[in-house]
Amino acid sequence: MAEIRNVAIIGAGLMGCGIAQVFASHPDHRVTTFDSYTPGPVVLERVRGNLAMLAGKGAISTAEIAALMGRITPMESIAKAVAQADLVMECIPEQMELKQNLFAELEGLCQPGAIFATNTSVMSITEIASKAESRHRIVGTHFWNPPYLIPLVEVVKSEYTDDTVVDATMAVLKKAGKHPVRVNRDVPGFLANRLQHALWREAISIVEHGIADAAPVAGAGSHGERRHGGHGPDPVHPPVHPPASREFAPALAPLGGAGAEGGAGLQDGAGVPDLDTAGRRSLPQAPGRVPHRCPVQAARRSTANPVLINSLVAYHRGIL
Ligand SMILES: NC(=O)c1ccc[n+]([C@@H]2O[C@H](COP(=O)([O-])OP(=O)(O)OC[C@H]3O[C@@H](n4cnc5c(N)ncnc54)[C@H](O)[C@@H]3O)[C@@H](O)[C@H]2O)c1
Repeated sequence: MAEIRNVAIIGAGLMGCGIAQVFASHPDHRVTTFDSYTPGPVVLERVRGNLAMLAGKGAISTAEIAALMGRITPMESIAKAVAQADLVMECIPEQMELKQNLFAELEGLCQPGAIFATNTSVMSITEIASKAESRHRIVGTHFWNPPYLIPLVEVVKSEYTDDTVVDATMAVLKKAGKHPVRVNRDVPGFLANRLQHALWREAISIVEHGIADAAPVAGAGSHGERRHGGHGPDPVHPPVHPPASREFAPALAPLGGAGAEGGAGLQDGAGVPDLDTAGRRSLPQAPGRVPHRCPVQAARRSTANPVLINSLVAYHRGIL
């Protein structure tokens, strides 16, 4: 499969603008955008806003900003945006029918070899692809917000996706400076959300069973060891982990358990039945509706959290 150079972004909202910026950061890439409701100048202004934040942290120079912006061209029609595209990234709202219809439309507008990627957060890639004729070229690319700072992108193979499509998508993401991980099966939560939710389930269960209050649980998560099973054996204390796991694994929260019913778990305590009103008040509150996985937005809203935003910018610079 030929190398991907021309990338079209459909839907230039929060994720689409950030992803346009990611691809345009490499001099080999040309990016077009199309958004049904957002005029081109607004799209460019959004990207410029992200870059201004990075420039304020010393992560990008004025010359780099000018070069990057020169590689992004908003188009007034979807047909023009995708005509030359090697890769079309769908970043429209999270509605199954909307995404299915878009891919059906793209089949008539794109070159036959173009790859179609969906940035769905939670929906099945297989179902999104199921209404298209050329299902083999539809792949999941789950970016994390903000896409220009979080390195991870999950590249998800549906029941239909060709391996060559996955390979080419992995390659272009690596070239754009991302850390793509290959997910061989299209399962709910893909890979990273499954890991994240397993930790949340256990955190809620610990509070629910009175083992610790919410604040110490949050502290242990933020300030403790970041290694997990996916990192392999601990190089410092290799013999400790397997026997320790055998000891406590049976005591972990069961699937579908703790705090799952009717609440936001640790965020508001509503799913933690044993807590009284005072206990719920002591639980950490989410900043507005910003979930944990939007760390930069959370950090922007909280002057108490400059360390978080600086460490993400450091990632962007490739320092970490
Ligand atoms: N926000 C996040 O943290 C996040 C993270 C990962 C993945 N996602 C996923 O990315 C996708 C986009 O999310 P977002 O947060 O950027 O949403 P958004 O609402 O910010 O952007 C969606 C954009 O799509 C445009 N649009 C709507 N219908 C369109 C159409 N038919 N053709 C072209 N443009 C259209 C809208 O005008 C809007 O600008 C969703 O599937 C979402 O689940 C979001």
